[in-house]
Amino acid sequence: MAMTATPESKSTNMASRAARKLWREVSRPIRRMSRPAQVTPAAAGHETIEFAPPASSQPFLTGSGAQISGFHPQQATVEPEAIAFIQKIVRESRRHAGPIIEVGTLLGITTTNMALAKTPEQKIITVDNYCWNPWALTPDVHASLTATVLHYLIKSGQVEQVRMDKNEFFRTYRGPAPAMVFLDAVHDYPETKKDIEWAQKVGARIIAGHDYCEEFKGVMQVVDEFGGPREQCASVWVL
Ligand SMILES: C[S@@+](CC[C@H](N)C(=O)[O-])C[C@H]1O[C@@H](n2cnc3c(N)ncnc32)[C@H](O)[C@@H]1O
Repeated sequence: MAMTATPESKSTNMASRAARKLWREVSRPIRRMSRPAQVTPAAAGHETIEFAPPASSQPFLTGSGAQISGFHPQQATVEPEAIAFIQKIVRESRRHAGPIIEVGTLLGITTTNMALAKTPEQKIITVDNYCWNPWALTPDVHASLTATVLHYLIKSGQVEQVRMDKNEFFRTYRGPAPAMVFLDAVHDYPETKKDIEWAQKVGARIIAGHDYCEEFKGVMQVVDEFGGPREQCASVWVL
């Protein structure tokens, strides 16, 4: 039976035709974009910045690396091959109670790499007085930049960023024996000696550090006096 169009049904039809037309218009770009695609994140407008060292022959933060200009942030840390080594040591530290203490934060790159290997419960305390960086940042800007790099880890309670001279930190530390210390602040004989002596005094279960290399003879001498590295990768040493 033929239906008679009432004024209400006419206006409903017109409204639905208008809605379909409108949808055809607005969905065009969506249809275009959702065609089967070899859409890589970059092609879709998202740039993925990989955490990778620069393709450069410039030295990393070892020896002459500390003086070079145009310093890439990924050079402001240990040698690339030593990152996996440090993470292995961090995994060993999981069986011990107590925090991981890093002496010398700089940008927090090793801090972050250690955080990737620790248990969620393990805490990293990273100490720096922000007296040195290769970009001539003021201490306040340097400390803030590092806090920004470490923001998530700090806010989630995994990392504590301590702004303090290391020797003052040593004097005032009242926490439990560290599961691991990573010594990477001042690379001369007397300061490295103080670092290792403190780590032993507080009962650190694993004592490691950076810059056991010819350019830092003082570090080599002290580490050797304490028995020499039981393990080493690039210039990262473990007593
Ligand atoms: C070689 S960088 C640390 C690099 C960092 N461990 C990494 O691998 O990513 C040395 C850092 O030690 C800090 N530093 C130097 N003397 C210090 C001191 N007496 N107390 C605390 N930090 C110090 C500097 O400000 C600098 O940020």
